[in-house]
Amino acid sequence: MPEEDRDEVRNLSSELLTPATMAEAFGRFAAYVERLVAIKEPGDDVITELRDEPNLVMNLVLLITAGHETTVQLIGNGLLALLRDPAMCRSLAGDPIMIPEAVEEFLRLDGPLAMGVGRVATSDVVIGGVTIPRSPQVAVSLGAANRDPSRYPEPDVLQLGRDPHVAFGYGVHYCVGARLARIEGEIAFGTLLRRFPELVLAAEPEWRESFIRGLGSFRVRPKP
Ligand code: HEM
Repeated sequence: MPEEDRDEVRNLSSELLTPATMAEAFGRFAAYVERLVAIKEPGDDVITELRDEPNLVMNLVLLITAGHETTVQLIGNGLLALLRDPAMCRSLAGDPIMIPEAVEEFLRLDGPLAMGVGRVATSDVVIGGVTIPRSPQVAVSLGAANRDPSRYPEPDVLQLGRDPHVAFGYGVHYCVGARLARIEGEIAFGTLLRRFPELVLAAEPEWRESFIRGLGSFRVRPKP
């Protein structure tokens, strides 16, 4: 993707995940991806690899959005959790070897796909004493699973060393970009804590309306 397209792609993927603008943004996103495919020189890259797929445009829109918006919000949501826990912030700044574990805990505590994933109940299923009837569409809340108090004591608290989470899903659709997202998170938090070990919140942040859990505004400043 050409670097000068960054702002356009950032806006498109954000609009695509906002309920009010989703339908209209998809048309513009698909048109952008079609242009990108048309000008692409064949090479050792994903577009060349997928060029003959019947759902190429749809898959590229999914890949770009899934790969971008989620990681952005992992960094925002994780940083917010960290700034609300100054002791943890100091301990990570002083001991960066713990950052990969902290990224896991950010994913559990406030993962970008907290709202969940869509599934089909092929038969009636009983979970926790509740019957989920056979139905064409069920939303499985990964956020609720990741805060299940029977698995994560004091689930709302940021705490390293917990059991594995399901922020990247489970089974055949397990996130194809999980490894990349973890690396991006580790680099972002490592760099941020190295350069600004004492950031503080400058204003109460606002959550945005989106299918991906994330912040609309988030102001921070170095500690005075
Ligand atoms: C913090 C970052 C991320 C989170 C929390 C996340 C979360 C998830 C989850 C929960 C699923 C499963 C969806 C389902 O079961 O229906 C998924 C699938 C997927 N993710 Fe991610 N993801 C992240 C980053 C990425 C990145 C960096 C990429 C690509 C570069 C990516 C590409 C995909 C794709 C293509 C799928 C669909 C896989 C399939 O249906 O087989 N994701 N992701």
